[in-house]
Amino acid sequence: MDHDLIPAPREATFQAGAVRYAFGPEPDLAAGPGTQATARWLRGVLGAAAGWSLPPAEPADPDGRADVRLLVDEGVGRELGPEGYELTVSADGALIRGGGPAGVFWGAQTLRQLLGPHAFRRAPLPGARWSLPYGTVRDAPRFGWRGLLLDVCRHFLPKDGVLRYIDLLAAHKLNVLHLHLTDDQGWRIEIKRHPRLTGVGAWRPRSRWGHRDSPLWNDTPHGGFYTQDDIREIVAYAAARHVRVVPEIDLPGHAQAAIAAYPELGNTDVVDTAALGVWDDWGINENVLAPTEAVLRFYEGVFEEVLELFPAEVSPFVHVGGDECPKTQWAASRAAQERIRELGVKDEDGLQSWFIRHFDGWLAERGRRLIGWDEILEGGLADGAAVSSWRGYAGGIAAAEAGHDVVMCPEQQVYLDHRQAPGPDEPMPIGYVRTLEDVYRFEPVPPQLSARAAERVLGAQANVWTEVMEHQGRVDYQVFPRLAAFAEVVWSRLPEPGARDYADFEGRMGGLEGGRPGVPAGVPAGGHYARLDALGVDYRPPGGPLPWQRRPGVLGRPKDGVPPTV
Ligand code: ACM
Repeated sequence: MDHDLIPAPREATFQAGAVRYAFGPEPDLAAGPGTQATARWLRGVLGAAAGWSLPPAEPADPDGRADVRLLVDEGVGRELGPEGYELTVSADGALIRGGGPAGVFWGAQTLRQLLGPHAFRRAPLPGARWSLPYGTVRDAPRFGWRGLLLDVCRHFLPKDGVLRYIDLLAAHKLNVLHLHLTDDQGWRIEIKRHPRLTGVGAWRPRSRWGHRDSPLWNDTPHGGFYTQDDIREIVAYAAARHVRVVPEIDLPGHAQAAIAAYPELGNTDVVDTAALGVWDDWGINENVLAPTEAVLRFYEGVFEEVLELFPAEVSPFVHVGGDECPKTQWAASRAAQERIRELGVKDEDGLQSWFIRHFDGWLAERGRRLIGWDEILEGGLADGAAVSSWRGYAGGIAAAEAGHDVVMCPEQQVYLDHRQAPGPDEPMPIGYVRTLEDVYRFEPVPPQLSARAAERVLGAQANVWTEVMEHQGRVDYQVFPRLAAFAEVVWSRLPEPGARDYADFEGRMGGLEGGRPGVPAGVPAGGHYARLDALGVDYRPPGGPLPWQRRPGVLGRPKDGVPPTV
């Protein structure tokens, strides 16, 4: 495909030869009703990259002539949906007609890609000239949920890094940021009524260096959290880019940071929870919440603040975790055993379901929808609850067949903490080898799903757990370039995995050295790597890690063989 668009659009036709629309020094912009947020975004990014202020076109009539015109168009909406768009470049300039405001925004992202990699910089390079190829792009996404999970608990990603990731998602037409905000190793969101959650729970004195088989420690304290105003800023910044932020408050497991802050949340009759700190190690942790009414009230208080920070218009879904909750303490705790009898549930698994069902109902009463990891299926779910299928496809298949909505994120396929290549050079290698091509051939809808259940697959997300990613550069290394392949899987209508044209995708990633047919001299040849370079992304180069991206001698936890597909 011409012009290295990623993700590949549904249809694109460009005129042969070097026919291009050349922008003058001060292009204008006509923004129709409903397109103001995209106009503001374009003025921001192209103001930086090209030095344009993009003044409103005169006359203000959006049907009049302008270098760039933005419109919401019902006809496009009927044909391509609210996220669909049509972008036309002709002698009249660039016209983006979106099915809804989101479609206009995704069209503007395509326009930015067509301007060349320097459109991703934050100041103009000397002598830059800007033009667009004549042609038409008609486009719409395959799925409505196109996500990335960032684990900001194991290693904190400061607010600027989160905003940057929102921009990186939007540049790839991804629209969900699942923020994993609480875990054993850190509590990262300010909760006003429980200040110790961040006062105590947001930092740890040291961290294991490498995966849990590593004998090494990093004795630098690690921590950080988002204030409520930071969260409001993140949510609004994302909304302006048509990205929804889904908050995750993990319960009843993955809760040691909360217990360290408030020891009464733990199983005090079996462990001295007052002696627990925020966990400094990795793995599955036995310090889980006590199954008491007081714990429910505590977390209701947390969720009340979370709901206020993440309005329903932004994300109806609230993630409650529910994964990896060992039952050893409940089995040993007299209080927990009494609770099992009082509640009339069968065993410790019944306590886990009781937690999840409580918040399922509690969220539903407030007009929200619960989403949780596939373990939550084990106790039966209320209508309306949704499942993130992570232990493979099986949980997602069971949930979808039972009528629940599903987000596919099987760890064997799209956990981006897993290593990208075999061999000793991958930094702290985790899990199976998942190459760029493997991710390109990931299929969110497994063939064994019935047609009715397949409609329950909202989409997919790639998950990034950060035990061995101590800073943003390490996160970038794991995420890119594979997120570009993932974006194409969830946006574009690719054929079934074996029939996908990976060579074409790889060509668009790499571009061509020294210009290509139809691209005049002086216009960078492009290729998606050139965009990532301009954005300052620390991706894994196709030839393997650069010396400073390696972590020689630090143990990870690689798995051998080919991961199961179901
Ligand atoms: C998970 O990876 N424990 C959801």
